[in-house]
Amino acid sequence: MTSTPRTRVLTGITTTGTPHLGNYVGAIRPTVQASRNANTDGFYFLADYHALIKCDDPARIQRSTLEIAASWIASGLDTDKVTFYRQSDIPEIPELTWFLTCVTGKGLLNRAHAYKAAVDKNHAAGNDPDSDVTAGLFMYPVLMGADILMFKAHKVPVGRDQIQHIEMARDMASSFNHLYGEHFVLPEAVVEESVALLPGLDGRKMSKSYDNTIPLFAPAAQMRKQIASIVTDSKAPGEAKSTEGSALFQIYQAFASAEETAALAKAYAEGIAWGDAKQVLFERIDREIAPMREQYQELINNPAKLDQILLAGADKARQMATPFIKELRHAVGLRALSSGSNASTAKEAKVALPSFKQYREKDGQFYFKLLDAQGQLLLQSLAFASPKEAGQTIGRLQTEGPAGLAALAHLLEPVSAERQASLDHSLEVLQSTNQNPKK
Ligand code: TRP
Repeated sequence: MTSTPRTRVLTGITTTGTPHLGNYVGAIRPTVQASRNANTDGFYFLADYHALIKCDDPARIQRSTLEIAASWIASGLDTDKVTFYRQSDIPEIPELTWFLTCVTGKGLLNRAHAYKAAVDKNHAAGNDPDSDVTAGLFMYPVLMGADILMFKAHKVPVGRDQIQHIEMARDMASSFNHLYGEHFVLPEAVVEESVALLPGLDGRKMSKSYDNTIPLFAPAAQMRKQIASIVTDSKAPGEAKSTEGSALFQIYQAFASAEETAALAKAYAEGIAWGDAKQVLFERIDREIAPMREQYQELINNPAKLDQILLAGADKARQMATPFIKELRHAVGLRALSSGSNASTAKEAKVALPSFKQYREKDGQFYFKLLDAQGQLLLQSLAFASPKEAGQTIGRLQTEGPAGLAALAHLLEPVSAERQASLDHSLEVLQSTNQNPKK
C-alpha cells in the first residue's frame, strides 16, 4: 500500500481590493472546494509584493490584505490543511526573484501582455513608450515566477489573463535548470472553464475596474440595496421576461441548484415582477453568505488573530523555502569560500533542517521522532525491538518522503490533521536534501 504523492496546487491573490461576489464565485469558492481534496497540497497566498506594483496607498494595501485573508478563512479555507501565507513574510521570494531575473531574457519580458499594453497605450497617445511604466510592472512576471517555483507547484489555477505568466515561469525554470542542474519543477496553468464569469450590476463582467461589484461580505441591508440596483429591462410585472442576457438570472444561477434555477426561469416566463425577482436573488445569496459573514466580521475585528494565522502559515512555507534557497544559493555559486565546489549542499550550507532523533526508553525498546527545524515534534514512532529496525524505518521515510507514511503507519503514532502538512513538507525537504539521520 503506497500513497501517491500529492499534487501541489498554488495560487496568489493580489491585495489591492475588497473581495466581491465575482471573486467568490470565480476564485474563492472553487479554490476552497478544491483544497479539501486529500490528494492536493494547497499553497494559497496574499500577493502583497505584487500589490505594490498597482497601488501606492499603504492603508489600502493593509486593509485589502486584512479583508482578503478574512474572506478566504470565512469562506471555509482550512488553514491547518493548506499553507496560507503572506508573500511578504517569505524573504526567500525576493531573493529567488533575483536569481530568476538573471536567467530571464529581457526580450521575454518585453513580450509580456501587461507591459506591452502599457507601451501600446503610450504609443497611441504619442508619449514616450515607457512613460509611467515602472520597472516593477516590467518585472511582474519574474516575481510571479519566484512565487510559483519556490514551492515546486505542479498546478497553478489562474484566470485566462495569467496563462502567459505561467508559461514564462516555465521558461525561467528551464533556463535555470539547464544552467545549474534540475532544481525547479515546471508548473502548469489550470484554467477552470466551468466556473461562471459573474456579471456585475450593469451587466458587464463584475470587476473593480468597472465599479459594478457587490462586496462579498457587505452587511445584509447593503447587499439587498445593491441587488436592487442590478440593471434590468423595463418590462412590467405580469409581462414574460427573458432569462437570456439577464444579469440577475446569471448571478442567481451561480448560487442556486439546477431545480432552483429552473423554478426562477419559470417565474420569468410567468412574468415575475423585477422587484420580486431581486428579493428571490437576495435571499438565495444571503442563505449561502450569512453564516460566513459572522465569522468574517469576527476576524476583521480581531486582526491580531489573522496576523497569527498568517505567520504560522509563513513558518510552514519557510520550512520549504529556507532550505531550498540555500540549495539554490549553493547551486549558483554563492557558497562558503572554504567549501569544495562539489560538496553536497545540505552538509555545507548548515541549514536548520528537520531531523530524526533515535533513542532508547526506560522500557528497553527503541524509538525515533522527527523534529522540525525549530525542534517541534512532527512525528513519533511506536516501539522497535532493535535500533536497526528503527533506523531502517527512518531510512525508508527519507527515501520515500511523505508517500512512505501510509505504508509505515503501523509503526508510527497517528499524525494529527493540523500537523500533517508540516510533516509532509519536512519529509519532502529531507527527501530532497537526502540528509543522514542524526543520532
Ligand atoms: N498575478 C496574479 C493575479 O493578478 C496574482 C499572483 C501573484 C499569482 N503571484 C501568483 C497567481 C502566483 C498565481 C501564482 O491574478
